[in-house]
Amino acid sequence: MKKLVVANLKMNLGLEAAQKYITTIKGQITNQLLVIICPSFPFLSLFKSAEYQLGSQNTFYKKDGNYTGEVSPSQLKSLGVKYIIVGHSERRLIFHETNKIINQKVAAVLKENLYPILCVGENKEQKLLHKTPVVIKEQLNEALKKIDQEMLNDVIIAYEPIWAIGTGLTPTPGEINSMGEFIKRVMSFEYNANNTRVLYGGSINQNNIKSIFSLENIDGVLIGGAAVNPDLFIETLNKIS
Ligand code: PGA
Repeated sequence: MKKLVVANLKMNLGLEAAQKYITTIKGQITNQLLVIICPSFPFLSLFKSAEYQLGSQNTFYKKDGNYTGEVSPSQLKSLGVKYIIVGHSERRLIFHETNKIINQKVAAVLKENLYPILCVGENKEQKLLHKTPVVIKEQLNEALKKIDQEMLNDVIIAYEPIWAIGTGLTPTPGEINSMGEFIKRVMSFEYNANNTRVLYGGSINQNNIKSIFSLENIDGVLIGGAAVNPDLFIETLNKIS
């Protein structure tokens, strides 16, 4: 199976910059990788391409109705979106998304036969108290409540320590690999999902991508800051392809 690279462009780029981004990366992405680009909602159609997959940074859990400002998985699917990030720590912290909401979103994404990229991760304090595995396990258990057994292998887990996002800090490759193994073990023992893909995200850059990408229990990376500039993004991808 191809390893994944998810580019989370967050709330960056205007129309012109988005157009420039698309022309800059055209023809630059090797098909050895499964690259998923997640631009802001207004630019999703613009980014549609045969060279990479389209991802969304968020979704709501209802299919349609009176939910001003929200976008549903089925609407995203109609634009060609295949992957949807759910439960990013910025959604949890800034927009107060609870585990219950995240659980509803995971279910709604799977219902449309799309792939949720479920983000989990500990904060600095939890890390210092050595609570990382407990925190991650709880986030997984809450987010995966009552999810159909046959669909669990479609859930991609992104391990994103909150203290590593946008800070330039990362766990050691050994710590990342152990967390990948831990998550796979939880998915296998508790959910009988034996093909779970685990990504790492948090301060991935040109210098660290290769060592993290090649870890045995890591199936890809989620890149934020280093993906916003298209030239830097391609340079970063070139380190692993
Ligand atoms: P970063 O963001 O690469 O800028 O740390 C990663 C993320 O938020 O997913």
